[in-house]
Amino acid sequence: MSSDQVSVSSNHNGVEKTNEEVDEDIVTPWNVSTTSVKGVDYDKLIVKFGCKKLDQALVDRIENLTGKPVHPMLRRGLFFAHRDLEYILDRFEKKQPFFLYTGRGPSSGALHLGHLIPFMFTKYLQEIFDVPLIVQMTDDEKFLWKDLTSEQSKKMAHENIKDIIAVGFDPEKTFIFCNTEYMCPAFYQTVLKVWKVVTNNQARSIFGFSGEDSIGKAAFPAIQAAPCFSSSFPQIFNGRRDIPCLIPCAIDQDPYFRMSRDAAPRLNFPKPTLIFSSFLPALQGAQTKMAASDQNTCIYIDDSPKNIKNKINKYAFSGGQATVEEHRKLGGNCDVDISYQFLKYFMDDDDKLEEIRKKYSSGEMLTGELKKEAIEVIQKVVADLQERRKLVTDETVNTFTSVHKLQYNY
Ligand code: TRP
Repeated sequence: MSSDQVSVSSNHNGVEKTNEEVDEDIVTPWNVSTTSVKGVDYDKLIVKFGCKKLDQALVDRIENLTGKPVHPMLRRGLFFAHRDLEYILDRFEKKQPFFLYTGRGPSSGALHLGHLIPFMFTKYLQEIFDVPLIVQMTDDEKFLWKDLTSEQSKKMAHENIKDIIAVGFDPEKTFIFCNTEYMCPAFYQTVLKVWKVVTNNQARSIFGFSGEDSIGKAAFPAIQAAPCFSSSFPQIFNGRRDIPCLIPCAIDQDPYFRMSRDAAPRLNFPKPTLIFSSFLPALQGAQTKMAASDQNTCIYIDDSPKNIKNKINKYAFSGGQATVEEHRKLGGNCDVDISYQFLKYFMDDDDKLEEIRKKYSSGEMLTGELKKEAIEVIQKVVADLQERRKLVTDETVNTFTSVHKLQYNY
């Protein structure tokens, strides 16, 4: 689709709207949507949220400090913003301790590709920094927000933990916990402290809660905030409360951590640092992110090769032209093409990606050929994960979730 054409999309009521009725992009922990086919305007979001763009100088600094090529998602600007990343890099340089913290709200039996992104990137961060990783499973959050029983959300959390382990983590370096199982004294004390310094008015303005929301929802953000602070994990940090964390996550989680950063100095804790990714678009187009609640927008990591092929062929929004003649003449638009966007996240080879971009943009490569590339790459990512997932038993899960010390000393 060429840029001067007006795109048409439908909102939740199925009412057609044009691009010209400019809607604000919506980015909250519960909803991500935009009317633009190119997806969320991330530059605007940086200004709105008050975080910083992750510029080339910072990417170069990571490369120089670690002496290793940076992850493709960093090189390609898919992790694109941060809060205080310099602070953590300074600590790394001075060999001062810090840890990684990320999480997952179990809302589907299997993870989809979008969920995989922070975990793949976290694995890279752990490889370059060699620090502890804490993974929080918010089965409580999904119980409160979704139409799920506590048994269902817990079961999903356990299935999701297996998927996460299959990304390639090491139990000597990683602690994974479900909120409903790890509410120990140290964790509860930390939650309690956060509760004390955040008012209802603040929570309402950050998260948009209203008087109709359950008190559980109002209470939950402190539970996502607590793992930012090393006081929540005495078994790992030997009782130290002063060890800061770096949180890799998608930018929709920022409200939780704005709140955490605001609370931190009042509790005498270091503020968490953040590094933010953009969203993996839904198959149908970048107006929404992949959402587990809608099967056909997602590729799940337990999808079969055939399924992946069918979903991409059938649903992946194309930036190609309506006819082959037009496509040869005008070329395709990679900015809106979902198969190309998938390659940007999951294809390692920079040269090959650039070649595809050129060929597709010039019209030399057709949509079917581009889809074929995307199918192969995604099938491979998923197959590798499924291979490793097969080896993950309940026993393996225990080695990550048991309350244990990691291989680092404090
Ligand atoms: N709220 C997140 C979700 O719904 C889960 C989560 C908990 C998380 N702690 C986190 C995500 C820390 C990123 C970083 O998926």
